[in-house]
Amino acid sequence: MTLKAGEVKVKGISSGEFSPHRFVEEAVREIGRTVKAGEKVVCALSGGLDSTVVAFLLDRAIGDRLVSIFVDHGMLRLGEAAEVNELCGKRLRGRFVSVDAGKRFLKALQGVRDPEQKRKIIGGEFIRLFKEEALSMGAIAYLAQGTIRSDVVESGAGDGGAAIKAHHNVGGLPEELGFKLIEPLRELYKEKVRLVGEALELPEAILRRQPFPGPGLAVRLIGEVTAARVALLQQADAIFREEVAAAGLVEKPWQYFAVLTGVRAVGIKEGGRHYGEVVALRAVTSTDAMTAGWSRLPGDLLEKASSRITAEIPAVSRVVYDITPKPPGTIEWE
Ligand code: XMP
Repeated sequence: MTLKAGEVKVKGISSGEFSPHRFVEEAVREIGRTVKAGEKVVCALSGGLDSTVVAFLLDRAIGDRLVSIFVDHGMLRLGEAAEVNELCGKRLRGRFVSVDAGKRFLKALQGVRDPEQKRKIIGGEFIRLFKEEALSMGAIAYLAQGTIRSDVVESGAGDGGAAIKAHHNVGGLPEELGFKLIEPLRELYKEKVRLVGEALELPEAILRRQPFPGPGLAVRLIGEVTAARVALLQQADAIFREEVAAAGLVEKPWQYFAVLTGVRAVGIKEGGRHYGEVVALRAVTSTDAMTAGWSRLPGDLLEKASSRITAEIPAVSRVVYDITPKPPGTIEWE
């Protein structure tokens, strides 16, 4: 069976005033019309806002004919996998399956340093694992996923855009998957997805969750992905997020995160020479992720984050702040 991208689309949402409630109604109706009685849909949950919104839309439309599969690739932010398990385990009426696959992903990524290769391996592995799980559930007609407008454009799949990065949810999807696709958010940029999430009464923790790349921390970690490097980055990232929260900013940046640069620099620790890791902090303003500016975060916040990261993570000798807009940079480093 060949894939037909965007099998389920909700029309009339890109022009005029956007009404999230109307979008939900139309999407639920459209999904209900597309998925015939007795057919099952499997949803790929990544832990981010987009796929959670898709799962909750489908939950409304088809209830227990939905199976949601969360493949935890082990490269989420600190504590996030647990949050997804808690929310979806409790609130989805259909089946929720959580797959702890960190070790399998690390094995597939062993020795790989090239960013596009990492993206493709993670995308491929994700689909393989997902397929294994889904096939064990009997006949499934559709695969639902949280592809949004910027994923489509940046993967070169729409509007003749040039391929900048192989985005997780569009690239790496094998032709022979055997399911038809449902991508209800394909026409929406992130801000509208958030409004739809509000209309679906998702909890604040998910609604305010920053956009996060499908391949996770693997593309915020330059060089080889190892368990130790992921753990280090998770720790630095958690400290930065804590400090942003503690600063009580009136407006939080669009995205803010730590990057493990793979560069080493000489520093001083405990009175001696320390040749350690360089962590970069990145915070950006944006409305749709297509362009972005670097956030003018308060100096005190950056100072606190920097001193905590170097003090609390022995392997880090230096912290730098990324002041590159998009373009010419991209939001993620890989
Ligand atoms: P870039 O780095 O291309 O990122 O400026 C634009 C936005 O997309 C997010 N991003 C992804 N989202 N799958 C996703 O769902 C991906 O593979 C992926 N890569 C980047 C990124 O965090 C930013 O919000």
